[in-house]
Order: sequence, then structure tokens, then C-alpha cells
Amino acid sequence: MSIIRSVVAGCGSYLPERRVTNEDMTKIVDTTDDWIVERTGIHARHIAADGELTSDLALKAARAAIEDAGIDVQEIDTIIMGTTTPDNTFPATAVTVQAQLGLHHGAAFDVQAVCSGFVYALTIADTFIRCGQAKTVLVIGAETFSRLLDWTDRTTCVLFGDGAGAVVVKAGEGEGTNADRGILTAHLHSDGRFKEKLYVDGGPSSTQTTGHVRMEGREVFRHAVVNIADTIKEALVATGLSATDIDWFVPHQANKRILDGTAKRIGLPPEKVVITVGEHGNTSAASVPLALDGAVKDGRIKRGDLVLLEAMGGGFTWGSVLVRW
Ligand code: ACO
Repeated sequence: MSIIRSVVAGCGSYLPERRVTNEDMTKIVDTTDDWIVERTGIHARHIAADGELTSDLALKAARAAIEDAGIDVQEIDTIIMGTTTPDNTFPATAVTVQAQLGLHHGAAFDVQAVCSGFVYALTIADTFIRCGQAKTVLVIGAETFSRLLDWTDRTTCVLFGDGAGAVVVKAGEGEGTNADRGILTAHLHSDGRFKEKLYVDGGPSSTQTTGHVRMEGREVFRHAVVNIADTIKEALVATGLSATDIDWFVPHQANKRILDGTAKRIGLPPEKVVITVGEHGNTSAASVPLALDGAVKDGRIKRGDLVLLEAMGGGFTWGSVLVRW
């Protein structure tokens, strides 16, 4: 039986030039390199230059993904961007990127699921493709998260950074088996009862300001490990695969301890886990495609590999995507 599969044709990413080390952070807040590394595994983060917008980072990642996919940009019929830090409250930043790419057809929109933004956007792209709504989708995760930070709050400002990643997903054909190339299964969740655990204390409707990130770190940590492990199990049950079948685990890069805890919980050896959080901190919706692109470009992820993506963020929101590269 022939079915439509959403096949990843190419990927790209971009980190702003300005690199801020933990040592640099000690000049801003009362912290130490040891504390940050021990609790999070983060060594540095990249911060967008003055005037450098989320759309600027997104465009660079998008162009790299389009080049990697080897497609004509005009083939793209849909752009879906996961972001919590749009250039403006509206229009959607995806629409700005659409114009910058010279596209005047199809649809472009943003998805707001905070750190799960890329996984949400990719799942929507897969659904659009499988139901015939789209054929070639540019999926982007891009953030200037530094602009939401309270730079006097050491409990949050050391954790996050800016960046962007993108993939081009194209309609392809499969046999309906786990050997097919493309997205094999995707699962999304949210639970608004936990919105106070991780949120921004402002917005157009409530305060008419952008606000700053507030977080109960320990609570987020506790829920993250459980929710992520559950959605991974869901992906395995849906496909009848087991953890040993996974070639690469590409998690949301929030905190190395969360990644280690999750990998252990589902029985994945550390050498199968792609970890880039040390170099860019938590870049929210950008973190999964940043890690993915890194592991593809350095030759770890190869065509035919089974790759498991997951993310969890404010809301809470969480989800997983299992893809045959
Ligand atoms: N430098 C030095 N000391 C600090 C810092 C800092 N940057 N931040 C907090 N501390 C202090 C606290 O004030 C506290 O001091 P006290 O004991 O004198 O009161 C002490 O360190 C311990 O603080 P805790 O918050 O209990 O530290 P914890 O071990 O829980 O680590 C952390 C904090 C790293 C935030 C952890 O809870 C965590 O990783 N949580 C997950 C949060 C996360 O990843 N969020 C990202 C968004 S959600 C997602 O993407 C999954």
C-alpha cells in the first residue's frame, strides 16, 4: 500500500555571532561557571546583536535548510514557525520570512508552544502534507529569547540563549511501514494547569508589555523528565518500535541533567543522545533544529537513521516526533 510520508529533505541553523560565556555571566549576576555547568551543562549562549531580530535569525537558518534540501525556494508552499519571541505582536514572523524569501504564494504562520514550538510546527507540517494541504513545508524554530529575560534574575538569565534552526519537509511516498523515510509518528500534549510554573509576566492583553520569564525551576525539572519519557513511550507504542531501534535521540536542549535523566528513564545509552546545550543554552523553539542540524552536518545522523525528537516547555506543552531520516 502506498501512503504519503513527510520526508525531511534538508536542514539548517544559525547562531548569532556574540557568544556569552559563563565567565561573562558572572559580571552580570551573582553566579559561577561551576554552578551553571554543574546544574545545567551550559558553558555559553549566543545573544542576538542590537537590531538583530528573530526574523533575521530565522531567515539565515531557512536559507541554509533550503540550500541543503537542494530545492527551488518557489517550491515552498507553507512556512510554519515556532517562536515565542516574534518581531512584533503581529504579523506572524513567518510572514516576514516569507516576504524576505521572495515568496508570494501559499501560507505562512507562527505557532506558539514555547520550547515545544518546533515539535508542534513539525507535527502540523506532517498533518498538512499527509492530508494534501501542502507539498513542501519550511518548518522553522527561531528565538531571540534573551529579550524576554530579566537580566537581574540569576535563576533564569543564565539558562537561555538566541538562535534558529529550520528543516524543509516534502511530500514523499512510503509503504506504510517503519522502514519508510519520513515522519513515522508524532504526538502533542499540553496541560494549562501548570501555566504558573513557567510563564512570562506580561503580554498585549494583560499588561501591554512584553514581560519577563518566570520559572519554578525544580517543578519544571520534575515534570519535564516524566512528560518527556511518557511521550517517547507513546511514539514507541504507536510504531511498535523499541528504544534499542532508535539511532539518535535529539531532545529539546534545556538542561543536560534533564536530557541525561530522560535518556536513562527510557533506556537510551548516552552515546545516542545529541547534546548541544553546552554551546547555546536553552534556545526554546530553536533548540531541537539546532541540535538536529549539528548532528546531521557532523555526519552522525545519516539517511535511513531512526531519529527521535522531543520537547517540553511552558504551558506546559510537550511532544515527540519519530522520523526516519
Ligand atoms: N548561580 C548561583 N546560584 C544560583 C543560581 C545561579 N545562576 N540560580 C539559583 N541559584 C541558587 C538559588 O538561589 C538557591 O540558593 P539557596 O539554596 O541559597 O536558596 C540554590 O542555587 C539552589 O536553587 P534551586 O533552584 O533549588 O537549584 P536547582 O538545583 O533546582 O537548579 C535549575 C536550578 C538549574 C533551574 C533546575 O531547577 C532546572 O534545571 N530546572 C529545569 C528548568 C528548565 O530547564 N527550564 C527551561 C525551560 S523548560 C524546558 O525547556 C524543559
